[in-house]
Amino acid sequence: MGKPWFPVFLHHMSAPKRYLVTSALPYANGLKHIGHLAGAYIPADIYVRYLRAQKREVVFVCGSDEHGTAIPIQAKKEGSTPQATIDKYHQALKEDFENLSVSFDVYHRTSESLHHETASTFFTHLLEKGALITQESEQYYDTVSKTFLADRYIKGTCPHCKSDQAYGDQCETCGRTLSPDELINPVSTLSGATLQKKKTMHWYLPLNQHEDFLRNWILGEHAKDWRPTVVGQCKSWIEGGLQPRAVTRDLDWGVKLPDSIPGGAGKVLYVWFDAPIGYISATKQWALDHGKDWAPFWQDKETKLVHFIGKDNIVFHCIIFPVMLKLHGYILPEQVPANEFLNLEGDKMSTSRNWKLDMRDYINDFVKAANGGGQCVDMLRYYLTQIAPETKDSEFTWKGYQDAVNSELVAIFGNFVNRTWVLNHKLCNGKVPHLHPALFDENEHSLIKDIQAATAHIGTLIDQYKFKDALFEVMNLARKGNQYMQKKEPWVLAKHIDTDPSAQKQIDNCLHLCLQLTANLTILFNPFLPNTSLTLLKMMKVVDRMLNWENAGSLKLLNVGYPLCAPQLLFRKIEDTEVAQQIEKLQ
Ligand code: MF3
Ligand code: ZN
Repeated sequence: MGKPWFPVFLHHMSAPKRYLVTSALPYANGLKHIGHLAGAYIPADIYVRYLRAQKREVVFVCGSDEHGTAIPIQAKKEGSTPQATIDKYHQALKEDFENLSVSFDVYHRTSESLHHETASTFFTHLLEKGALITQESEQYYDTVSKTFLADRYIKGTCPHCKSDQAYGDQCETCGRTLSPDELINPVSTLSGATLQKKKTMHWYLPLNQHEDFLRNWILGEHAKDWRPTVVGQCKSWIEGGLQPRAVTRDLDWGVKLPDSIPGGAGKVLYVWFDAPIGYISATKQWALDHGKDWAPFWQDKETKLVHFIGKDNIVFHCIIFPVMLKLHGYILPEQVPANEFLNLEGDKMSTSRNWKLDMRDYINDFVKAANGGGQCVDMLRYYLTQIAPETKDSEFTWKGYQDAVNSELVAIFGNFVNRTWVLNHKLCNGKVPHLHPALFDENEHSLIKDIQAATAHIGTLIDQYKFKDALFEVMNLARKGNQYMQKKEPWVLAKHIDTDPSAQKQIDNCLHLCLQLTANLTILFNPFLPNTSLTLLKMMKVVDRMLNWENAGSLKLLNVGYPLCAPQLLFRKIEDTEVAQQIEKLQ
């Protein structure tokens, strides 16, 4: 059979009207580490900056996840209150993201009244539609504290390893997932009291009623364009049998059920019900702040919704939240680029074992150091993208970081730009020299071809969420620039200006093309290394309009005769002593 006369993937080819990009809302119970950063924040930021450079309408939302038992537990640990805990960490997280150039359009929080209203209205709406069911169950009750206990508040002996420090949801000694019923001699962590079972009623989202929808949507429609891990996890969930999921809890920390709901007193929404609705309230907050309408972002099918998350969040973003969205009549995510985990120096990152590198630590040790600044932000963004756990777990090592900085950012990209600038000031008066195409040889032709081809290729890779490959291609283009300069050797040509009448023209050609290539690299690196691109704009004395993605691939970005600024070093080296210090700090 011949080709169909119509394009098969028509909906992929026409650009969406607008984009809504989300990054997982981090729990405001502590600082976040670079595994979080590499998984859900840097990739999203790259994607968003790329869309902005294409002049697309895009809103990038995030915020703190301030409910769930994790919060009161952390507060207790710190001898503080839940409110003080979320206030402290919300502020810290917001600052850390800013300091690492993660450019949210809004960083909201789920303790805001706007969110409480949005989440409880969402719940009521589903209730009124008859989309939720109620069930009674027996749960552990602490008769001393007079409260039902979340799994985390129950302690006992692990049935597997016999540790007496196991929690109702997990044994941290052997790592196994548990349910409170499996614990031997369960007691309350609040009062130490032994526990009683007591009947309680909750609302459930009957996932089992949505199996056909989920199968068609995930295993059919998105089987090919979602990442294999994402489809695989969903498949095993669906095949394991979908069960009704409780969406309320007997707790006092969270979004309270409206008083109007009989039986709702003393109950709150389950944190995983309210948190993703946080994306909606964040969009509303952004709209309020900017005099815009939030509704099309969640209601108009021409909005492309993309959730960036870590792999532990897949089920919530691909199964539970979509069912909620569908029931409410909102749009569904088109893509959920979930990342695997990032290990650190040969071991899993872990907050409880304190084996991690917090964003805050990197900020203090590098970004805020005397020789730090935006370059250090970009150095981390570069390495984290290079090792991004897109398809399998990967590993951060300080040696790897040093190599990425010293032998790529410094030795290739930085060196290329620096040589171009220094030579241009020396041999061409610091102005963009003329171009003499009549003198081109195969080196010029192939460099020009490479610049043009790279741009299209890089855009396609970003469109496919292959940020790591895309970044590799950008660096490869810088590498080609270096090789080109090495071939032409303008510093050698300079010695023959008196004897060879074409020498100056050859120099001009070389530096003209290297400058145009630098301008291209400024555009292409911008989603990944935004601070470096700003430095380059200053060195070229051009405005940020040049960063428009459609300018990439052009060889006319800088006008002949235009005077450039003096060069600035783009990246500093990472010394062996710094690597040693960081490794020592970790032990
Ligand atoms: N706070 C959760 C976590 O850190 C993520 C919540 S994502 C949201 O795993 F969708 F619920 F917001
Ligand atoms: Zn155990």
